[in-house]
Amino acid sequence: MIENSSQPIGIFDSGIGGTSIWKEVQQLLPNEDTIYLADSLYAPYGQKSKEDIINLSIKNVEFLINKNCKLIIVACNTATTNAIKYLRANYSVSFIGIEPAIKPASLQTKTKTIGILATKGTLNSELFEKTSSLIDNDIKIIEQIGEGLVELIEQGKIDSTEMDLLLRTYINPMLEENIDCLVLGCTHYPYLIDAIKKITKDSINIIDSGEAVAKQTKRILASKNLLNRTEHNASNIFYTNKDKTVLENILRGSKYTLIEELNF
Ligand code: DGL
Repeated sequence: MIENSSQPIGIFDSGIGGTSIWKEVQQLLPNEDTIYLADSLYAPYGQKSKEDIINLSIKNVEFLINKNCKLIIVACNTATTNAIKYLRANYSVSFIGIEPAIKPASLQTKTKTIGILATKGTLNSELFEKTSSLIDNDIKIIEQIGEGLVELIEQGKIDSTEMDLLLRTYINPMLEENIDCLVLGCTHYPYLIDAIKKITKDSINIIDSGEAVAKQTKRILASKNLLNRTEHNASNIFYTNKDKTVLENILRGSKYTLIEELNF
């Protein structure tokens, strides 16, 4: 297929977390039409096998290709680290992925200790192992699986006692190890920044890759002459295979056109 600039950008995640990436993309590229797919019925991906994550990613990608997307953002660290290699090898459309920002964190840390909160699937992936092996040996990386966090976010329990207690069990031990940077290695977690700051009392840097993904998307579209330069009211459509209320809540105040529940 020959892509053209008026086609939409496709974005998918295991659920609502990738909307944190959509918000960055929408802010940087307000002229682009977007189609977002939340695979919430199958969330979380984090505990699934690599094979399952690849199969779910194929399903999502084919949905977005059928919607005529010119580029696809894999707005999920777990799907990127486990499936993007397969996707790039099997589909001609361009993919932008997201990976935990441990490199920028390693350049910022003064205590030489950084924490990373991500899913099991991301932390155990070959791609993450490769990226972390490139970090200077004198930097200590403390990995923490954020088990249960995605489930609570998908249930709309961002600002809950349950969330606060769970986050404390993950973050306090890292603070005791003297981290001064915390990398958010899951696109759901930017929605926890306020809750995390309550625990860290703003004493550390919280780093995520959302803005970098939006910038990379712009760069790739520009290099392929696919930036939409036609002045128009952009259309931003969201599909979910679960109750759309959680998506509606997370998008409150954002410029979306439609949120639809579908079977997929
Ligand atoms: N947003 C996904 C990520 O960035 C969450 C994975 C999951 O569903 O467990 O990794």
